[in-house]
Amino acid sequence: MKLSIIGTGYVGLVTGTCFAEVGHHVICVDNDAAKVKMLQAGGIPIYEPGLEELVKKHVASGHLKFTNSTAEGVEKSDVIFIAVPTPPQPDGSVDLSYIERVARDIAAAMTSYKIVVDKSTVPVKTGEKVTETIKRYCPAKVEFDVVSNPEFLREGFAVGDLMKPDRVVIGVGSQRPVAAMKEIYTPFNAPIIVTDINSAELIKHAANSFLALKISYINAIANVCEAAGANVQEVAQGIGLDERIGRRFLNAGIGFGGSCFPKDLSAFIKIAEQIGYDFKLLKEVQHINADQMDRFVKKITDTLWVLRDKKIGVLGLAFKQNTDDVRSSPAIDLCQRLLKDGATLRVHDPKGMEKAKAILPNVTYVEDMNDVAEGCDALVVATEWDEFKQLDLARAKKGLTHPILFDGRNLFNPAEMEKLGWIYKSVGR
Ligand code: UDX
Repeated sequence: MKLSIIGTGYVGLVTGTCFAEVGHHVICVDNDAAKVKMLQAGGIPIYEPGLEELVKKHVASGHLKFTNSTAEGVEKSDVIFIAVPTPPQPDGSVDLSYIERVARDIAAAMTSYKIVVDKSTVPVKTGEKVTETIKRYCPAKVEFDVVSNPEFLREGFAVGDLMKPDRVVIGVGSQRPVAAMKEIYTPFNAPIIVTDINSAELIKHAANSFLALKISYINAIANVCEAAGANVQEVAQGIGLDERIGRRFLNAGIGFGGSCFPKDLSAFIKIAEQIGYDFKLLKEVQHINADQMDRFVKKITDTLWVLRDKKIGVLGLAFKQNTDDVRSSPAIDLCQRLLKDGATLRVHDPKGMEKAKAILPNVTYVEDMNDVAEGCDALVVATEWDEFKQLDLARAKKGLTHPILFDGRNLFNPAEMEKLGWIYKSVGR
């Protein structure tokens, strides 16, 4: 099918590329001229495993094109996906101005029936506004359908999540766009759920909030485990084997971050409030998440006492593994708190260092994770990168003035660390 995607951020770029991979003809539109040029030349503005190869493959095959012109995208496609940012505002609500702008641009360019699909994460009832806007700003007064098709990809696993989705949600206001939407998604072999538009929009916020709730739940359990002398990983395994609960997203740590969970929680609480429901449960999820970082910082200061003039090695800057994304990263938050208390930092992240430099200028960036401990008073693990498990512990121990490790992601085994002579503090164990 002929598709266009407006916005080449995480969601837009990966979606467009995966659509090309299953044989659709895709035009990706972005108003950032430098980005479009880079993509046309086969370059990639983000780190995402497997993405670069696919972009190159389909730029070469002709299935994937990039342009600055929304009008070109609209004119040459039957279905237009909106995948622009929906950033948070200071009061927690969502800034929908990019969505509104794009809806107007699409409307202005439409000269025949089009399906306009919202893929950006938006509060419930946005589809109604997009429909009104297109109607108002379309001089040709052609017919169209607005569809809500939320995206559930995780950064770091985006290509895999898109190629093998757990489900595809299609929210429609009439039956007319259903066949085309099913045709787009049939090659992905996933269950397709057709709902009304409001329900589809709600599914996205409800799913992300539930996952965040699951993490805060296990973090709260971790705190009880610490007080009771139990092990949160054993508890997670014990409850996670119950299929109704499931083991995934039950990893205790220093809390969740990234550009989705914190923003989506605030947005969901806000929209619920606007339509008359006080979502206290989700406010508590936020509270536990903030508290988790406080507790971890306290663990560090309880052990090191004064942080002024202490040198601390930090492993991890990205908000999770397999990404270079440092937006709303708990690891960055932790670094900033340690710096504020007067510590100096030596930091390493396998992919996130370049992007971290802009927000964390006054630290020493170390290329090799095994050099981070050199001359430090303690080492901290802040991101769950698998490769940190391969840290040369003997070398790190030699490099440190004292063998102290604060593991904010529970990557090492407490009994083994103790046997190796470490003062080892993790979360909930
Ligand atoms: C999330 C959703 O998973 C995805 O479906 C949605 O489309 C976008 O938001 P993402 O933000 O990429 O994806 O990251 P995710 O893998 O969900 O992790 C979010 C945060 O939770 C990270 O900071 C991670 O470290 C933390 N986390 C995750 C935990 O602390 N414990 C866990 O068990 C899982």
